[in-house]
Amino acid sequence: MSKEFFVNALQTDEEFTDFFMVKAASVRTGSNKKLYFDAMLGDRTGEINAKKWDVSDDEAIVLGTLREGDMVKIRAGVTEWNGARQLRIQRIRVAGVNDPVEMTDYIKAAPEDPKEMHAYILDRAKSISDPALRKIAVKFLEDNEERLLYYPAAMRNHHAEQAGLLWHIKRMLMLGELACGVYTILDRDWVVCGVILHDMEKLNEIQSNELGISPGYSFEGKLLGHIAQGVKAVETMAGECGLTDEQKTMLEHMILSHHYEPEYGSPVRPMFPEAELLHYLDILDANMFDFEDALSAVGPGSFSERVRTLDNRMLYKPSSKEDK
Ligand SMILES: [Fe+2]
Ligand SMILES: [Fe+2]
Repeated sequence: MSKEFFVNALQTDEEFTDFFMVKAASVRTGSNKKLYFDAMLGDRTGEINAKKWDVSDDEAIVLGTLREGDMVKIRAGVTEWNGARQLRIQRIRVAGVNDPVEMTDYIKAAPEDPKEMHAYILDRAKSISDPALRKIAVKFLEDNEERLLYYPAAMRNHHAEQAGLLWHIKRMLMLGELACGVYTILDRDWVVCGVILHDMEKLNEIQSNELGISPGYSFEGKLLGHIAQGVKAVETMAGECGLTDEQKTMLEHMILSHHYEPEYGSPVRPMFPEAELLHYLDILDANMFDFEDALSAVGPGSFSERVRTLDNRMLYKPSSKEDK
């Protein structure tokens, strides 16, 4: 049986009973000293904050065991808080094996088949003409194929979905190759290699289960982040792949500068055109993802909720042509 209520379609003041997947959950103590349950619940269309107030000690023990990926059945109302929809849970229970749950209704996944995306990216890597740059890009893709097939590109925000990292790399590659036809100073080898490797250490920065749901950052991810981790990885792979010192440093520079601003983690700004392009491909792909994601929850002729990752903008979906 398919799901009845998808997160993105829930309307304020609606009451319903349905299943959801736990994306994050905790039991907290409120300012009134009473326990409450605070969670992000979701399905493949999105996620929503949910609260259950006045949780008893016995209930807190059960709710305290919930982890990302667990399924719950809830009875709830949809309210609004600070301009965003929120669920006020009246009843909640953990779903069991006998419950009619279709997992494909709950897993947010990139729209293309991960194996096909991997094959596409690997094919582009193999087309790099410089042997050392080709080797390091191919090696990364082949050595990490298993995890790439499900890894998200983020815990939250852009591409936080199953195989989101491959989807991010693929669309950046498609754009990057187009840019090479427009700006003829660009060296395609560097564009392709830089795009494939720029977020390579997301695999070790964030943790992920096979559903593409991340429970958090790894220890190294917290202390170093994927930019510093990426530089270390290139350092380790450089000799085996035959990179010259110049190539190694240029590749490290592309990884180091791809967030552009020091406050976003880049200690240097791009100093050659392919590194500059890499940053804008990254930003463009992340922003377009966020536009698409936020507008998927909006009907024609209306505005989205404010999107934190897009400077708190509300986004507009034009009325459909048939409505006019
Ligand atoms: Fe990044
Ligand atoms: Fe990226």
